Amino acid sequence: MAVERTLTILKPDCVRKNLAGEVTKRIQEAGFKILAMKLTRLTKETAGGFYAVHKERPFYGELVEFMSSGACVPMILEKENAIEDFRTLIGATNPSEAAEGTIRADFADSVGENIVHGSDSVENGKIEGAYFFSEAEVIANNS
Ligand code: CMP
Repeated sequence: MAVERTLTILKPDCVRKNLAGEVTKRIQEAGFKILAMKLTRLTKETAGGFYAVHKERPFYGELVEFMSSGACVPMILEKENAIEDFRTLIGATNPSEAAEGTIRADFADSVGENIVHGSDSVENGKIEGAYFFSEAEVIANNS
């Protein structure tokens, strides 16, 4: 299986609920290597740009409000089969449909406030990673 990278964001609900440590621990215990990580607060412009693909969706305004409502923690993660394995670890977008034991099933309140983001393809993982981190901030050999 190919080694892949995915971009995750521990969303403002995750940080507000003091779950950033617990979620990071689960991510690391599942075998993901953290190549880049920071605490930041998105502006509406930055959040809107990140989710530009959803601009026409009815929930776009709510999504941008929420993602800029407090601190969040973007990370670039690396692992074999990272895209699919990360989506399995976090569970379905809507926590009421997320499998038992997944991060969203355990911690998320709603489809909008769902604790974490995960890239949906290798290509989007690269684009999303570059949205938050410069090349110099990505530590490829960190062990
Ligand atoms: P994420 O994986 O970060 O990518 C797009 C986000 O839009 C998604 O997680 C959800 O948090 C959010 N989203 C999707 N559908 C809805 C919805 N019906 N209402 C509010 N937010 C939504």
